[in-house]
Amino acid sequence: MSPAADQYGVFGHPVGHSLSPFIHGMFARETGQEMSYRSYDVVPEEFAARVREFFEKGGRGLNITLPHKIAAAEVAHELTERAAHAAAVNTLALQEEGILGDNTDGAGLVRDLCDNLGIVITNRQLLILGAGGATRGILAPLLELEPAAVVIANRTAERAEALAAAFTDLGATRGVGFADVGDAPFDLIINATSASLTGDIPPIPPSALSPDTVCYDLAYGRSATAFVKWAEGAGCARAVQGLGMLVEQAAESFHLWRGIRPDTTHVLSLLKVRTGST
Ligand code: ATR
Repeated sequence: MSPAADQYGVFGHPVGHSLSPFIHGMFARETGQEMSYRSYDVVPEEFAARVREFFEKGGRGLNITLPHKIAAAEVAHELTERAAHAAAVNTLALQEEGILGDNTDGAGLVRDLCDNLGIVITNRQLLILGAGGATRGILAPLLELEPAAVVIANRTAERAEALAAAFTDLGATRGVGFADVGDAPFDLIINATSASLTGDIPPIPPSALSPDTVCYDLAYGRSATAFVKWAEGAGCARAVQGLGMLVEQAAESFHLWRGIRPDTTHVLSLLKVRTGST
């Protein structure tokens, strides 16, 4: 890579296993962009200073991953509307007015669901498991597609109720505990809990799922995630892990930085082989 290449990267902690350098490297090659992209392990105490230093030294853009997404919203001089809704930032871009904070996670999910997987959201019944930052990041883009209703179910019911209440102006949302999701099956169930990290499955009532239900895990792994395995075992129509969302949110960030939308098909198929996922 030439020393004159525009500098990009991802800040996280830990960040060693991030697939973002591979994804953006492929995007850059395939679109002929002169840019470098590397990962930076940044501890929370140094996050704001390291971001400022990166941009002062000529860096052009950053992806932000755990645990820095909320801190990144504070470092940005300006937020896009979707980042403000998410109250979290996964993309920083240097602009004339300063550092812009954006959140491409929700748009990435919607692109994977609708464009890659052909799943219809409009007029459908959605169940989202979890009421943390991940759910907050995807609610606005999902509600924009006008589902019939979005039920947010969480271990701590009050968190789900509060989150649903914050989004009622965008569409029909309801927050409940897992025992109160109702008896009717959902068209789409999205796992946005961090339970997958420990291999746990949220206590979803069997009535929430029918043979027509599609299940989507925001998490991804080298093999099927615990939620995907559970969903397949429970007899859903299809269970998918979030590798497509990862690639699509990256494409959305790349577009913000470079003004070019990379084709995601090739990168996604390479990653599926590389991670051994389907
Ligand atoms: P994130 O930014 O990944 O969403 P978070 O804000 O800490 O992280 O939220 C984690 C979510 O996963 C929460 O909804 C949490 O439920 P609580 O609000 O009740 O804590 C949920 N979660 C984590 N571990 C879980 C488990 N073992 N079973 C069910 N839900 C779990």
